[in-house]
Amino acid sequence: MIKQEMVVNLNKQLNLELFSSNLYLQMSSWCNSNKLEGSSKFFKQQSIEETSHMHRLFDYLIDSGNTPKISSIDSPPEHFPSLKEIVQFSYEHEKMISKKIKNLSFQAIDTKDYLTFHFLKWYVEEQCEEEKMFKSILDRIELVNEDPSGLYFVDQILKKINNS
Ligand SMILES: [Fe+2]
Ligand SMILES: [Fe+2]
Repeated sequence: MIKQEMVVNLNKQLNLELFSSNLYLQMSSWCNSNKLEGSSKFFKQQSIEETSHMHRLFDYLIDSGNTPKISSIDSPPEHFPSLKEIVQFSYEHEKMISKKIKNLSFQAIDTKDYLTFHFLKWYVEEQCEEEKMFKSILDRIELVNEDPSGLYFVDQILKKINNS
C-alpha cells in the first residue's frame, strides 16, 4: 500500500514525464524545420522514451491499486536560437528531473516504502544515463563552436545515437 502523499508525488512525476515527451517532440519539430535531420530523429526518439517513462509510472500506480490522473500539460517552448541551446536546455531539464527522482527516493526511504524505492531505482539509473548523454552531445557542439560543417557532423552523430 503506497501512502497517499507518495501517490500524489508519483502522479506529478508521471505528468512531468509527459511534459518531457512533449518538450522533445517540439525540439524534434524545430530541428526538422532547421534542416537538422539527424537531430530531429534523435529528439523524436527521446520523446518516445519519455512516454515510456510515463507508462512505467502509470502501470506502477495502477498495479498498486491507484488511479493515475493526467493533468493539463504546459506547452513546451517552441522557438530556440540554436541546436546548442536546445541541447543545453535538455541537459538542464534532465538535471531537474534527476533532482525530482532523488527527492522521490528520499521520500520512499523516509516513509519505509521499500517497494517504491525499489521501483525508482530504474529511474535513478536512467537519469544518470540521460544526463551523461546530453552532456557529451553538448561537449561535442562546443568543440565545433557552431561551425556549419561541424554542426553537420554533430547532426550525423545524433542520427547514429538514434539508430543504435
Ligand atoms: Fe524521463
Ligand atoms: Fe529524460
